[in-house]
Amino acid sequence: HKSQAWSALFSEPMSDLVKRYTASVDFDKRLWQADIQGSLAHAGMLAAQGIIPAGDLAEIQRGMAQVKQEIESGAFEWKLDLEDVHLNIEARLTQLVGDAGKRLHTGRSRNDQVATDVRLWLRGEIDVLSGLLTELQKSLLALAEQNADVILPGFTHLQVAQPVSFGHHMLAYVEMFSRDAERLADVRKRVNRLPLGAAALAGTSYPLDREAVAKALGMEGVCQNSLDAVSDRDFAIEFTAAATLAMVHVSRLSEELVLWMSQNFGFIRIADRFTTGSSIMPQKKNPDVPELARGKTGRVAGHLVALVTLMKGQPLAYNKDNQEDKEPLFDTVDTLRDTLRIFIEMMGGITVNKEAMEAAARKGFATATDLADYLVKKGLPFRDAHEVVAHAVKTAQAMGVDLSELPLAKLQEFNASIGQDVFQVLSLRGSLDARNVVGGTAPAQVRAQVARHRQRLG
Ligand code: ARG
Repeated sequence: HKSQAWSALFSEPMSDLVKRYTASVDFDKRLWQADIQGSLAHAGMLAAQGIIPAGDLAEIQRGMAQVKQEIESGAFEWKLDLEDVHLNIEARLTQLVGDAGKRLHTGRSRNDQVATDVRLWLRGEIDVLSGLLTELQKSLLALAEQNADVILPGFTHLQVAQPVSFGHHMLAYVEMFSRDAERLADVRKRVNRLPLGAAALAGTSYPLDREAVAKALGMEGVCQNSLDAVSDRDFAIEFTAAATLAMVHVSRLSEELVLWMSQNFGFIRIADRFTTGSSIMPQKKNPDVPELARGKTGRVAGHLVALVTLMKGQPLAYNKDNQEDKEPLFDTVDTLRDTLRIFIEMMGGITVNKEAMEAAARKGFATATDLADYLVKKGLPFRDAHEVVAHAVKTAQAMGVDLSELPLAKLQEFNASIGQDVFQVLSLRGSLDARNVVGGTAPAQVRAQVARHRQRLG
């Protein structure tokens, strides 16, 4: 076989180095199930169209059943000499069933075969990832519901801005992960189209029934241009872009977990099984999991850049460059899948230190905006109210107290319209409850939003 040469045309075999350089079986063997699935659908159609005898189809089915069993049991011998998953499986099939195996590749090329396999495989992985995104959202919803009334400082520029509900904060991530799930569902439509029938690049002279193959494989339709069918990897890039965004969201959450776990915040504890100790400092518990997730986001973003760069400038149609799509794509799936799995569990095991969060929210004049809004409701133009409150904050700062700790008489020096009702407005709870607008942080809104998300997720 190929250890000699491709065919009679070749006058010398490949060197071992070239063989290793061009082979992909070490990594693309993970496509084996999709490869068999695609081949069986192709063979079924060949027989239905009278292109191969029905007896050959039966032989191919019998042989493939054995190949499958050999791969599953680990008995299958993967050969580097046979370059990739496709040639390995076809060669073994032919060993098992003879001429019927040799007829399988009628009207097909590895170019449309590999594109089909990757799409089938990715479709399955997308479904797994979508399920994990749903679970992660549910895990965050539970946390949001339990902590709808827990108050922490909301930041802008990492400076105390306004108090927010911790539940509301968690719901922000639910929004992000729900968009990620939407994106995957959208990408899936373009992944789920059939290249088979494009053959090498120009289509084929056999009377193939492409629609029947698409239907047999549960695909939404056939790729409409043979040149594009074998060379398009948009679906892989789109998927990796969606995965990168999901990782970016995990990474932002990770950064907050790391920060919140720091002694200087003390807002949360992560279950011990997600932290590690130090080999020198006995007191340490480090948030290695979120840190690593933050780091792995760079790895996935790198895969996106690799894939875009891989496709840039490739002439039509198939080029061997495309074999390089697999490792970045596989690693993207593995990294995102493991990260989501671990976050589903980790977020479920977070302990919230309500007192520390609220104490932090009482620093930094988080309700200064509420005082300005209060003055506006008393008739001041907002810009004037803003200025009045700036003076009040300056005074409180000098006295080392919060606005809510200034005596009423002192507050009235800044504006005479301030009354006893200001203290409710200046409280953290009052500030939260006041933001009772859809998408706002009022605990009532948080609870309503949790209910809406639960309904959406079913
Ligand atoms: N292993 C190849 C890939 O991953 C399969 C297609 C090879 N086709 C070819 N004409 N060299 O893209």
